[in-house]
Amino acid sequence: MTSACAPGKIILLGEHAVVYGRPALAVPVRQVQVCAVVEAAGSGPPGGVLLVSPDLALESWLSDLPASHPLAAISQATLAALEPGPFAPIRVTITSTIPVASGLGSSAAVSVAIARALIQHFGGELGHSRVSELAFEVERIHHGTASGIDNTVVAFDRPVFFRRGETPEPLAIGGSFHFLIGDTGVAAPTAEAVGRVRQRWQADPPALEAAFDQIAALVLDARQALLIGDVDRLGADLRRNHALLQELDVSSAGLDGLVQAADAAGALGAKMSGGGMGGNMIALVSVDRREPVADALRQAGAVSVLQTEVEP
Ligand code: MEV
Repeated sequence: MTSACAPGKIILLGEHAVVYGRPALAVPVRQVQVCAVVEAAGSGPPGGVLLVSPDLALESWLSDLPASHPLAAISQATLAALEPGPFAPIRVTITSTIPVASGLGSSAAVSVAIARALIQHFGGELGHSRVSELAFEVERIHHGTASGIDNTVVAFDRPVFFRRGETPEPLAIGGSFHFLIGDTGVAAPTAEAVGRVRQRWQADPPALEAAFDQIAALVLDARQALLIGDVDRLGADLRRNHALLQELDVSSAGLDGLVQAADAAGALGAKMSGGGMGGNMIALVSVDRREPVADALRQAGAVSVLQTEVEP
């Protein structure tokens, strides 16, 4: 039996603009994860892969699923890369603590966990970059214009400065940054939010390009803030980025309510994170404001509040 897990992720700054070639910052969130276990299936056709996901109420042979099914697509892509030759039937069981369509990278984590578990099972030697590429193939099926940031941060499992098409840059972190992650409880598929921005961009490219440039400037400033450990500066960048995401119309009443509640309770800065239109927001907090801000988020309707740290 082999098993592998992959973390969730949050985007600190730069979502949506990253689809249009601007840089973005993302970090793994190990408090939530997807795990995949590969074991002998007992019975089944030679070369058969039984995919089991209790969360999705799914138990199906890979060959019976459509090629575009996310679990089938990553299994197929990984087997094609590994070329294991004939093998006895296997069962792949996937479990997750990452809420779906919440901006925490659940789909990328599912792909990375399955790819890693299969690689271990068959004794393959595919590194982080290759795993990230395999997960990206699947991200693209369901969200054609995916930038690749989710699969990258999840596969590398470390803070990254990311720009589409470029080698991800591991982030040097110069201090401790404490984040709360507040969930609106509203599921919002990334593809929908990305489509909304696309429509606005098609209607007025110069306005949207200008907004993306402003977001890019904040990302560069935030990278510097992370490097020198300046929490106040990062907080201000988060706040400005949220305002620009509101202009792009990908925030929501639920997200804005949680961001305001965090601000009012003394967060250093807060913003929506990921695709938006629901899902999660993040708040940067000092250690002594962590509990009061977490309480304020719950009172404002957050269905869950996670804590995570970004550290040197
Ligand atoms: C989703 O986590 C981030 C978006 O920028 C989409 C993408 O980069 O593919 C909204």
